Amino acid sequence: MCGIFGYKGNKDTGALLVEGITKLDYRGYDSAGFATLDKGKIHVEKGVGKMKEISKKINVKKLKGKIGIAHTRWSTHGKVTLENSHPHMSCDGKIALVHNGIIDNYQVLKERLLKKGHTFTSETDTEVIVHLIEDEMKKVKDFKKSVIKALEQLKGMYALVIIHQDYDGMIVVRRGSPLLVGLGEKEFFVSSDVISFLPYTNKAFVIDDNELASITTKVEVENIVEGKKVKKKIQKFNIKGIQSGLGNFQHFMLKEIYEQPETLRKTYAKISSQLKQLHLKPFNRVVTVACGTAYYATLTGSYFFEKFLRLPVDVEYASEFRYKNPVIDDKTLVIAVSQSGETADTLEAVREAKKKGAFIVSICNVAHSTMVRESDFTFHTQAGVEIGVASTKAFTSQLLTLLLFALYFAKFKDEHNREQLVMYTNELLGLSDTIKKVLSGFSDIEKIAAKFTHYKHALFLGRGFLYPIALEGALKLKEISYIHAEGQSAAELKHGPIALIDKDMPCIFIALKDKLYEKVLINMEEVKARGGKIIAIATEGDTEIKKFADEVIYIPHVSEEVSPLLAIIPLQLFAYFVALRKGCDIDKPRNLAKVVTVE
Ligand code: AGP
Repeated sequence: MCGIFGYKGNKDTGALLVEGITKLDYRGYDSAGFATLDKGKIHVEKGVGKMKEISKKINVKKLKGKIGIAHTRWSTHGKVTLENSHPHMSCDGKIALVHNGIIDNYQVLKERLLKKGHTFTSETDTEVIVHLIEDEMKKVKDFKKSVIKALEQLKGMYALVIIHQDYDGMIVVRRGSPLLVGLGEKEFFVSSDVISFLPYTNKAFVIDDNELASITTKVEVENIVEGKKVKKKIQKFNIKGIQSGLGNFQHFMLKEIYEQPETLRKTYAKISSQLKQLHLKPFNRVVTVACGTAYYATLTGSYFFEKFLRLPVDVEYASEFRYKNPVIDDKTLVIAVSQSGETADTLEAVREAKKKGAFIVSICNVAHSTMVRESDFTFHTQAGVEIGVASTKAFTSQLLTLLLFALYFAKFKDEHNREQLVMYTNELLGLSDTIKKVLSGFSDIEKIAAKFTHYKHALFLGRGFLYPIALEGALKLKEISYIHAEGQSAAELKHGPIALIDKDMPCIFIALKDKLYEKVLINMEEVKARGGKIIAIATEGDTEIKKFADEVIYIPHVSEEVSPLLAIIPLQLFAYFVALRKGCDIDKPRNLAKVVTVE
């Protein structure tokens, strides 16, 4: 996935393009490029690396003119090189284009274009598009018509912004990857995310699939499949806190970890009010679809649903679900969870489920995202914009939403007494203060992390409600510190993985005083007996644990059903401090991007 930005107006384009694309570099930061149209000529500047390096290398002053496009890349086809970075140009240098998505049939198109004499300068799938348009222009002189003819030959997903040296504007097209048009005072913005043009306008509309926008002195939108003009509804986007920046924090990830008491309080209020608006048809099956961290939230949610609703839940990786021809019908409740609401696998899983008649409830953190538009009902988590690629506050908001969902509907079942449900509710109402207490103990966690940075591997172990938290803790560590970390059921250790245990394979156990505590102690003993180093996340006041663990991180007692929302906090901080010590780029880890809009 990549970030796309375009501008047409009366400002100096170069500096604006750099500013806009820098705000999108959470979407991918292998390389970046810019093209502007000035006095009938297109000028291109490109760089490899992150925007903070590129902005020093490129010559922004050369990016003159009132029309420009920009791109920040997360490579899918072709190595991270200058040649593969966007914008890509036609042979005659008259057309420049930036793309987010994947063209599935690019090889066959490339061979056809090579035979016609086109010369390619990159290994990318994207470059075939600009040569296709150039080729079509030889037949139909009209720029927009040539774009439409070229698109008819493409298979795959794309968000495109295209300029031509003889066209006083931009052409914008979308199939699959997100794209919005911002409407300023006699100026227009195009972007993958509203975040990039918010300082200039909060009025925008979403380009929907198969729509083409011609941006000249006005914006005209048409559906190129139906061949009809489209009137778009202009929305006012209010992204609270986006301009807040880092504040006193060194990284967005740490800031977002510390925002959790507040984001959970806001999410609690929002979801509690939304639950009253949800009217579910009768269903006989629950399936969840998600990716990455959101998947671990759904796995935790399945424990909540079984405990409070006595409902079995099929927890699916969206990427697997979408291709397995799932057994879904109109009696299936599908819960889709996604921070961004733009993850390609999760979107396609939702579409597959909808095709089969399922009712789609989504849990999403971006109100204007594609997933929200395509769901039957959406719970809007209130985590605010999450910039750190490693998800933290969005994850705990997802957990809270799933737990509140289960508790709300449990009220209507006669299996749980009111006092018990009230107890959980009170714990959740006090959760923000409990988390603040854990966050205040960061220095103990930092000290333990300092002794951990030399390890190359680690196991995260938990049971019951905390097994999914072990998986999520491992993901946090591996994605920002690059230490190979795996989550395991603590009980499963003896069925093979225990062969890994030696002094170089540290084990992080989540060993809270719950009904499986004694069992986890046995698992810890199995590790200790083989010389394994143990860090334990334990319940305040537990002295027994010190007989087993080399290091202990204490957290306050909460019921085991609420404990996932608390136990993840020290693991987030642990991963952060290890990565900090290792000098990793915490907010933009290598090879990753915040939104995975490609398969
Ligand atoms: C989480 O830390 C990762 N960045 C990644 O696994 C992420 O959770 C996954 O790509 C799903 O993203 P989504 O929630 O926006 O769908």
